[in-house]
Amino acid sequence: MLISAADIDRRVDELAAAIDEAYAETEMLVLVGVLKGSFIFMADLARRLSVPHRVEFIAVSSYGAIESEDPGAVRLLMDVRHDVAGQDVLIVEDIVDTGHTLSYLLRLLAARTPRTLRTCALLHKPDRTVTDVAIDYLGFTIPDVWVVGYGLDFAERHRTRPDICELPPELR
Ligand code: IMP
Repeated sequence: MLISAADIDRRVDELAAAIDEAYAETEMLVLVGVLKGSFIFMADLARRLSVPHRVEFIAVSSYGAIESEDPGAVRLLMDVRHDVAGQDVLIVEDIVDTGHTLSYLLRLLAARTPRTLRTCALLHKPDRTVTDVAIDYLGFTIPDVWVVGYGLDFAERHRTRPDICELPPELR
Protein backbone atom coordinates (compact mmCIF):
# COMPACT_ATOMS: atom_id res chain seq x y z
CA MET A 1 0.00 0.00 0.00
CA LEU A 2 1.30 3.41 -0.97
CA ILE A 3 -1.34 5.82 0.39
CA SER A 4 -3.96 4.84 2.96
CA ALA A 5 -7.62 5.80 2.72
CA ALA A 6 -7.16 7.97 5.83
CA ASP A 7 -4.25 9.86 4.25
CA ILE A 8 -6.23 10.40 1.05
CA ASP A 9 -9.14 11.67 3.10
CA ARG A 10 -6.98 14.21 4.93
CA ARG A 11 -5.31 15.41 1.76
CA VAL A 12 -8.61 15.82 -0.11
CA ASP A 13 -9.80 17.97 2.81
CA GLU A 14 -6.71 20.16 2.46
CA LEU A 15 -7.10 20.45 -1.30
CA ALA A 16 -10.77 21.43 -0.93
CA ALA A 17 -9.81 24.09 1.64
CA ALA A 18 -7.14 25.53 -0.69
CA ILE A 19 -9.58 25.58 -3.61
CA ASP A 20 -12.29 27.20 -1.48
CA GLU A 21 -9.86 29.93 -0.49
CA ALA A 22 -8.61 30.55 -4.03
CA TYR A 23 -12.12 30.71 -5.51
CA ALA A 24 -13.81 32.55 -2.64
CA GLU A 25 -15.04 35.20 -5.08
CA THR A 26 -16.17 32.92 -7.88
CA GLU A 27 -19.72 33.02 -9.17
CA MET A 28 -19.50 29.41 -10.30
CA LEU A 29 -16.50 27.11 -10.37
CA VAL A 30 -16.65 24.51 -13.14
CA LEU A 31 -14.95 21.26 -12.13
CA VAL A 32 -14.01 19.23 -15.19
CA GLY A 33 -13.34 15.63 -14.15
CA VAL A 34 -11.29 13.49 -16.50
CA LEU A 35 -12.93 10.08 -16.94
CA LYS A 36 -12.69 7.48 -15.87
CA GLY A 37 -9.93 7.68 -13.28
CA SER A 38 -11.00 10.87 -11.54
CA PHE A 39 -14.58 9.93 -10.71
CA ILE A 40 -14.01 8.99 -7.07
CA PHE A 41 -11.59 11.86 -6.38
CA MET A 42 -14.02 14.25 -8.08
CA ALA A 43 -16.94 13.04 -5.95
CA ASP A 44 -14.99 13.43 -2.71
CA LEU A 45 -13.46 16.78 -3.63
CA ALA A 46 -16.67 18.33 -4.94
CA ARG A 47 -18.65 17.37 -1.83
CA ARG A 48 -16.15 19.19 0.38
CA LEU A 49 -16.23 22.48 -1.51
CA SER A 50 -18.17 25.41 -0.08
CA VAL A 51 -17.82 27.70 -3.10
CA PRO A 52 -20.57 27.49 -5.73
CA HIS A 53 -19.57 24.86 -8.26
CA ARG A 54 -20.89 22.56 -10.95
CA VAL A 55 -19.42 19.38 -12.34
CA GLU A 56 -18.63 18.42 -15.90
CA PHE A 57 -16.87 15.36 -17.23
CA ILE A 58 -14.60 14.88 -20.18
CA ALA A 59 -13.24 11.56 -21.45
CA VAL A 60 -9.99 11.03 -23.29
CA SER A 61 -7.94 8.07 -24.25
CA SER A 62 -4.30 8.01 -25.10
CA TYR A 63 -3.02 6.42 -28.23
CA GLY A 64 0.29 4.66 -27.95
CA ALA A 65 -0.95 1.14 -27.38
CA ILE A 66 0.12 0.52 -30.96
CA GLU A 67 3.83 1.10 -31.35
CA SER A 68 3.64 2.97 -34.64
CA GLU A 69 1.37 5.60 -33.14
CA ASP A 70 2.58 8.84 -31.63
CA PRO A 71 2.94 7.96 -27.93
CA GLY A 72 1.88 11.47 -26.91
CA ALA A 73 -1.31 11.62 -28.97
CA VAL A 74 -4.52 12.00 -26.98
CA ARG A 75 -8.00 11.43 -28.37
CA LEU A 76 -11.16 13.14 -27.14
CA LEU A 77 -13.85 10.52 -26.46
CA MET A 78 -16.48 12.69 -24.76
CA ASP A 79 -16.63 16.45 -24.46
CA VAL A 80 -18.08 18.60 -21.65
CA ARG A 81 -21.81 19.32 -21.99
CA HIS A 82 -21.81 23.09 -21.50
CA ASP A 83 -19.69 25.90 -22.84
CA VAL A 84 -16.98 27.07 -20.45
CA ALA A 85 -16.32 30.48 -22.03
CA GLY A 86 -15.92 33.16 -19.37
CA GLN A 87 -16.04 30.60 -16.53
CA ASP A 88 -13.60 29.60 -13.79
CA VAL A 89 -12.52 26.13 -14.88
CA LEU A 90 -10.61 23.61 -12.78
CA ILE A 91 -9.51 20.36 -14.44
CA VAL A 92 -9.67 17.45 -11.96
CA GLU A 93 -7.28 14.63 -12.91
CA ASP A 94 -6.48 11.38 -11.13
CA ILE A 95 -2.81 11.18 -12.05
CA VAL A 96 -0.28 13.05 -14.14
CA ASP A 97 2.11 10.55 -15.63
CA THR A 98 3.80 11.72 -18.87
CA GLY A 99 1.73 14.93 -18.75
CA HIS A 100 0.39 14.44 -22.29
CA THR A 101 -3.25 14.19 -21.21
CA LEU A 102 -3.25 17.28 -19.03
CA SER A 103 -1.32 19.28 -21.59
CA TYR A 104 -3.86 18.29 -24.28
CA LEU A 105 -6.78 19.23 -22.04
CA LEU A 106 -5.24 22.58 -21.15
CA ARG A 107 -4.86 23.43 -24.85
CA LEU A 108 -8.38 22.20 -25.66
CA LEU A 109 -10.08 24.15 -22.87
CA ALA A 110 -7.91 27.27 -23.13
CA ALA A 111 -9.08 27.65 -26.74
CA ARG A 112 -12.63 28.05 -25.38
CA THR A 113 -11.63 31.22 -23.51
CA PRO A 114 -12.52 30.41 -19.91
CA ARG A 115 -12.08 33.27 -17.41
CA THR A 116 -9.49 31.20 -15.52
CA LEU A 117 -8.12 27.71 -16.16
CA ARG A 118 -6.27 25.71 -13.50
CA THR A 119 -5.45 22.09 -12.74
CA CYS A 120 -5.90 19.78 -9.78
CA ALA A 121 -4.36 16.29 -9.74
CA LEU A 122 -4.43 13.75 -6.95
CA LEU A 123 -1.14 12.14 -7.97
CA HIS A 124 1.96 13.07 -9.94
CA LYS A 125 4.82 10.85 -11.10
CA PRO A 126 7.55 13.42 -11.80
CA ASP A 127 10.05 10.75 -12.93
CA ARG A 128 7.79 9.97 -15.90
CA THR A 129 6.95 13.50 -16.96
CA VAL A 130 7.67 14.26 -20.61
CA THR A 131 5.46 17.32 -21.06
CA ASP A 132 5.79 19.80 -18.23
CA VAL A 133 2.41 21.02 -17.06
CA ALA A 134 1.60 23.20 -14.09
CA ILE A 135 -0.40 21.39 -11.42
CA ASP A 136 -1.99 24.10 -9.31
CA TYR A 137 -3.42 21.75 -6.67
CA LEU A 138 -1.55 18.48 -6.15
CA GLY A 139 -2.40 15.68 -3.72
CA PHE A 140 0.72 13.51 -3.66
CA THR A 141 3.96 13.00 -5.52
CA ILE A 142 4.67 9.30 -6.09
CA PRO A 143 7.52 7.26 -7.56
CA ASP A 144 7.45 5.66 -11.01
CA VAL A 145 5.21 2.69 -10.17
CA TRP A 146 1.80 1.60 -11.48
CA VAL A 147 -0.85 2.45 -8.92
CA VAL A 148 -4.43 1.28 -8.54
CA GLY A 149 -7.35 2.12 -6.29
CA TYR A 150 -9.34 5.28 -5.49
CA GLY A 151 -10.47 5.46 -9.13
CA LEU A 152 -7.26 4.22 -10.73
CA ASP A 153 -7.28 0.91 -12.53
CA PHE A 154 -5.26 -1.67 -14.31
CA ALA A 155 -7.32 -3.05 -17.22
CA GLU A 156 -10.47 -1.89 -15.36
CA ARG A 157 -9.55 -3.77 -12.21
CA HIS A 158 -8.96 -2.49 -8.65
CA ARG A 159 -10.64 0.85 -9.39
CA THR A 160 -12.91 0.88 -6.36
CA ARG A 161 -10.54 -0.14 -3.62
CA PRO A 162 -10.40 2.66 -1.03
CA ASP A 163 -6.62 3.08 -0.78
CA ILE A 164 -3.88 3.56 -3.38
CA CYS A 165 -1.64 0.57 -3.94
CA GLU A 166 1.31 -0.22 -6.10
CA LEU A 167 0.58 -2.99 -8.60
CA PRO A 168 3.79 -4.96 -9.00
CA PRO A 169 4.79 -5.91 -12.59
CA GLU A 170 4.17 -9.63 -11.96
CA LEU A 171 0.47 -8.89 -11.25
CA ARG A 172 -0.13 -6.90 -14.44
P1 IMP B 1 -0.42 10.92 -18.97
O1 IMP B 1 -1.09 11.47 -20.18
O2 IMP B 1 0.75 10.04 -19.33
O3 IMP B 1 -0.06 11.97 -17.95
O4 IMP B 1 -1.39 9.88 -18.34
C1 IMP B 1 -2.48 10.16 -17.70
C2 IMP B 1 -3.40 8.97 -17.62
O5 IMP B 1 -2.75 7.71 -17.66
C3 IMP B 1 -4.11 9.04 -16.31
O6 IMP B 1 -5.25 9.84 -16.39
C4 IMP B 1 -4.42 7.59 -16.05
O7 IMP B 1 -5.64 7.26 -16.66
C5 IMP B 1 -3.31 6.82 -16.72
N1 IMP B 1 -2.29 6.41 -15.73
C6 IMP B 1 -1.01 6.82 -15.69
N2 IMP B 1 -0.33 6.22 -14.69
C7 IMP B 1 -1.22 5.42 -14.05
C8 IMP B 1 -1.13 4.54 -12.91
O8 IMP B 1 -0.09 4.37 -12.24
N3 IMP B 1 -2.27 3.88 -12.59
C9 IMP B 1 -3.43 4.02 -13.28
N4 IMP B 1 -3.56 4.84 -14.33
C10 IMP B 1 -2.47 5.54 -14.73
